[in-house]
Amino acid sequence: MQKKTTLRGLYLRTGILMLVLSLVIGLVLAAVMLALFAAGNPQGQSFVQSMTKLVHREFAGRAILPYFTIGIVLLCLAVAGLCFVLTSRVTGRLSATLKELRRAADDLREGDLDHEILSCRERELDELAQSLEGVRQRLKAASLAEAAAQEERGLLMANLSHDLRTPVTAIKGYVEGIRDGVANTPEKRDHYLEVVYAKTLVLEGLVGNMTDFSEYELGRMQYHFERVELAAFLADLIPEYQADVRGREMAFVAKPLASPATVTADRGKLKRVLDNLVSNAVKYGRPGGTVVLAAEGYRQGVILSVSDDGRGIPEEALAHVFDSFFRADAARSSSVPGSGLGLAICKSIAESHHGKLWLTSREGEGTHAYLYLPLAAKEDLL
Ligand SMILES: Nc1ncnc2c1ncn2[C@@H]1O[C@H](COP(=O)(O)OP(=O)(O)OP(=O)(O)O)[C@@H](O)[C@H]1O
Ligand SMILES: [Mg+2]
Repeated sequence: MQKKTTLRGLYLRTGILMLVLSLVIGLVLAAVMLALFAAGNPQGQSFVQSMTKLVHREFAGRAILPYFTIGIVLLCLAVAGLCFVLTSRVTGRLSATLKELRRAADDLREGDLDHEILSCRERELDELAQSLEGVRQRLKAASLAEAAAQEERGLLMANLSHDLRTPVTAIKGYVEGIRDGVANTPEKRDHYLEVVYAKTLVLEGLVGNMTDFSEYELGRMQYHFERVELAAFLADLIPEYQADVRGREMAFVAKPLASPATVTADRGKLKRVLDNLVSNAVKYGRPGGTVVLAAEGYRQGVILSVSDDGRGIPEEALAHVFDSFFRADAARSSSVPGSGLGLAICKSIAESHHGKLWLTSREGEGTHAYLYLPLAAKEDLL
C-alpha cells in the first residue's frame, strides 16, 4: 500500500529541499559571476586578486574554514528554523480545517444532519465546505420529506384499513341476513343483494386505489395505449358522473367537443384521472353548486377541464396539491374522505400521455382542473 504522508511532513520536506537548492544555486551563481567578471575585463581580474589578497591578509594565520563552515551552518539553521515556523503555522491551520471537514463528513456518514458546516478561510477548502453543506441540506430535506411520507403512509394504512373494514362489515351483515332468512321476501333479498353489490364496488375502488398507489410508488404503472375517440369516450362517462353529482344535490353540465378528436391513451388510466377530478369537484364543491366537464380543441391537442364553484384552494396550498399525501387544511380537517394521492397519481398519468395537468383556483370562488392531451399522430391513426 502507498505510504501516506502528512501535510506538515510534506511542507517540511519541500521547505528543506528549497533551502538546500537555493544555497547551492546561490553559491554556484556567485562563483560563476565572479569568474565571468574576472575573465571579462582586466580590472575585474585585479579586483578579484585584490579581494583574494585581502581575505588572505585578514584571515592569515587563522583557521578560516571552521568560521566559514559555522557561518554557513548557522545561516542554514536560521533559514530552516524560519521555514519550519512558517510551514508549521500554515500546515497547522490547514490540518485543523481539514479535521473539521472530516468530522463534518463523518457526521453526514453517521446520519447526523443537524450541524451546519461552517465556511473556511481558505478558498479551496471553503468550496469543499460549501459542497458538503449543500449535501447536508439536501440529505436533511430528503430525510424530512421521507419522515413526513412515512407518517402519511402510516396514516394512509390506518385510513385504508378503516375504509376497508366498513364495507366488509356491511357485506358480512347483509350476507348473514340472506343466509339466516332475515331477507325473507324476494324484495328484501333483492335489496340486500343491491347493497352487497354497492359495497363490493366501494371495495373494488379502494383496492384499485391501493394498486395504483403501489404501482405509482414503485414507478411501475402499466399502460395499454390505444386510439381513443374522446367525444365517444366522454359521452360514455357522463351518466356515471351525473349520478355522482346528483348524490350531492349538485348540477352537472357537460360541454362536449365541437369536432371529433382522437388521442393515444390508456382508457382505464384516463378514466382514473377524470374520476379523480370529478370526485374532487364533488367532494370539495359547494353543495347545491355546479360541476362542469368541458372539452375543447387547443393547438395540436385537446383540453379537458373539470370546474366547480366550491371552497377553492388557498394560494399557498395550490403549489402542493400534486405532492403525494398532500391535503389542504380544509380537506384534512373535514370529514371528506381522501388520501391526498389522487392528483399525484393523475399528474404522473398525464405526463405518461405526453400531456399536462394543472389547476387554477380562487379561495371561496372555485377550482378549475385542466388536462391537456396531444392528438394522436397521423401515423398512429393509419
Ligand atoms: N376541486 C377542488 N377544490 C378544493 N380543493 C381541492 C380540489 N381538488 C383538490 N383539492 C385539494 O387538493 C388536495 C389533493 O387532492 P387529491 O385528489 O390529490 O387528494 P384527495 O382528493 O384528498 O384524496 P384522494 O384523491 O387520494 O382520494 C385535496 O385534499 C384538497 O385539499
Ligand atoms: Mg382526489
